[in-house]
Amino acid sequence: MQDLPNLILVGPMGAGKSTIGRLLAAELSREFYDSDHEIQARCGADIPWIFDVEGEAGFRQREAHMIDELTQLESVVIATGGGAVLREDNRRRLRERGTVVYLFTTVEQQLKRVAKDRNRPLLQRPDREATLREMFELRDPLYRATADVVVRTDRRSPRAVVNEIVRRIQRLVDPLQAKA
Ligand code: S3P
Repeated sequence: MQDLPNLILVGPMGAGKSTIGRLLAAELSREFYDSDHEIQARCGADIPWIFDVEGEAGFRQREAHMIDELTQLESVVIATGGGAVLREDNRRRLRERGTVVYLFTTVEQQLKRVAKDRNRPLLQRPDREATLREMFELRDPLYRATADVVVRTDRRSPRAVVNEIVRRIQRLVDPLQAKA
């Protein structure tokens, strides 16, 4: 897969975007960028601090800039934050500048994966399950509208998910070769 477009992972918190993105990039010998990680490095502060000081609106502004910047790179793998699809301008850039993979996961699986999390400001609330369900209702259609491919991640190893992504992308990029 020489002429690989950017591969962009979207999906909710706890879907495994960073782990799977890193593995996928290694598998394809591509650079990997994690949008949240880049935002923190650029600003010299972690995400809870940004939410505290600048509010969610401030974070979303930084996130939109980062998505604009990262999607202008070529042939890289990008993991986005779970809320990246909320803004129409982000969705458009993601769609236009790469092949977008939605890592679908259930709320049950998310709850297991984020059980001890202290770094996600939107989850520091008493009822995490209700919060995640509300987010799912709002965001699942947005992930689907942005994605070229939807891949299930629940109860599957990161390696199995990566293998499926590679197969599905191959089919998109070169349908004839994938059939051979
Ligand atoms: C967010 C998800 C987080 C991070 C921020 C907001 C969201 O990223 O961007 O805490 O709105 O769902 P992950 O999806 O990598 O946890």
